Amino acid sequence: MYPFWEGVLIHSTLYVAITSAFHVLVSHLTVAAAWFNLYIERRAVMENREELYQYLKRSALGLLVFAYVFGALAGVGIWQTTTAANPRGISTLIHNFVFFWGAEWYMFLIDVIGIIAYYYTFGRVSKQTHLRLAWILALGSTGTLSIIVGILSFKLTPGLWLQTGNSLNGFFNPTFWPQIGLRFFFMFVITAAWALFVAAGLPKGFFERAKIIRYGAGIGILGLIGGVLTWLLIYQPALPQHAWAILPSRAIPQPTFPIIYFGLIATAAGLLFAFLAPDRQRRVFALGAMVVMYGAIFGAERTREVLRKPDVIAGYISSNQLVFNDLPARNVSSEEQRLNETGMLGSLPFVPAASQIAVNPRMTFGSSDPEVAVGRVIAIQQCGSCHSISPQTELSVAGVALDLRSQAKLLQMRNLSTVDEIDAYLGGIQGFPYMHPFVGTLEERRALAKYLAEFTQLSAPQTAAQAGK
Ligand code: HEC
Repeated sequence: MYPFWEGVLIHSTLYVAITSAFHVLVSHLTVAAAWFNLYIERRAVMENREELYQYLKRSALGLLVFAYVFGALAGVGIWQTTTAANPRGISTLIHNFVFFWGAEWYMFLIDVIGIIAYYYTFGRVSKQTHLRLAWILALGSTGTLSIIVGILSFKLTPGLWLQTGNSLNGFFNPTFWPQIGLRFFFMFVITAAWALFVAAGLPKGFFERAKIIRYGAGIGILGLIGGVLTWLLIYQPALPQHAWAILPSRAIPQPTFPIIYFGLIATAAGLLFAFLAPDRQRRVFALGAMVVMYGAIFGAERTREVLRKPDVIAGYISSNQLVFNDLPARNVSSEEQRLNETGMLGSLPFVPAASQIAVNPRMTFGSSDPEVAVGRVIAIQQCGSCHSISPQTELSVAGVALDLRSQAKLLQMRNLSTVDEIDAYLGGIQGFPYMHPFVGTLEERRALAKYLAEFTQLSAPQTAAQAGK
């Protein structure tokens, strides 16, 4: 167990979500744009069409400045946010995939140097050599994507790894190829919006403008159709049973699905319009498409991450950083029973013993009861990874609370307010497919109930006032 960051204003996992949705948008853009540009450049070389280089130069400069710079920054941001939000989860991934990540960074190096070389050698090296650079860029960026997909899909379906502990088994897991397919198709949709954006900026009279817009929109439409088919026919069937239990549950906050469907439909309509009326394409349309896609990606990626709840690595380590299953191949055994006997407090390096927990009334809603202070520590460890457990992560913007499944609100919804009621309810949370049982002793559970009762009471007047508005 490691320390874990609750978050400030919003929950720590929302920092992860915001950063990574942006990273997904631009990183997929760079990969698919590399293939799209390769296609355009091949036509330029084979058909000797000098004008197409105009588009390529603009596209490459934009990618270099926007996608690579901000994409790489957001990539670092993912490391920072995930490490703060779930250090043990990240640690487990690193221990399994350190060489895979090493390989990925080499690919990324090729990618970053590649785009710089690609942009600055336009017109300075022979056309054939430049085309080779385009190939290197396309292959290098696809390499980084593939390696990351192996690690991402591992978390949802670790597959044979749960028996063998072998990293390669974990990498080539049951949803590896389906997810590669899914991302491969959808990334062309993002690139289509990019191509429209760049091409729409070319002078109106430029005679290849309409053609490039048509290519872009066409490839985007194909990507959209291919992506939806891959989702329905290949990815969905590969999902484990557990994920099917989560999909319709309250674990996925509304309106996630409407946002995704709206994103798909709006994007399809935008691409069709561009395809049919390329002359009327404007940059703002393409920018609008990017914004819509950001929303859809946010919803889709978050759903993918929630499907494996209550675990970070399905069937192995939970979101609250406890090992729930044995992994004999790696000499790891479940921590649940041991911690139920010894208690959480004082048994893990970063969870202090009860006697070491100072009472800080600011953190315990004014209460100077040491049991409430103990309850707060337990709440952070046991529940904080998936819930707002204090007002610290319940920012409200224009009346909309941006909390993460606030426990105060959930308990109010069930009309649970006394310590006894809450304590009894905590005994059964494992009945939901997205939660593990409470881990620790009965006294610790009671302390948690006491803390939650205070938290619920604190939030009650606010919620009542909001309801009365
Ligand atoms: C792995 C993530 C995760 C952890 C850890 C977790 N929860 Fe939950 N919990 C959820 C999700 C997802 C929901 C569904 C949200 C909703 O109902 O809106 C939920 C719902 C709840 C609800 C409402 C259930 C209902 O009646 O519908 C309560 C109460 C609750 N959690 C309490 C807790 C407590 C207490 C802890 C710590 C001991 C905890 N949770 C730990 C994910 C988690």
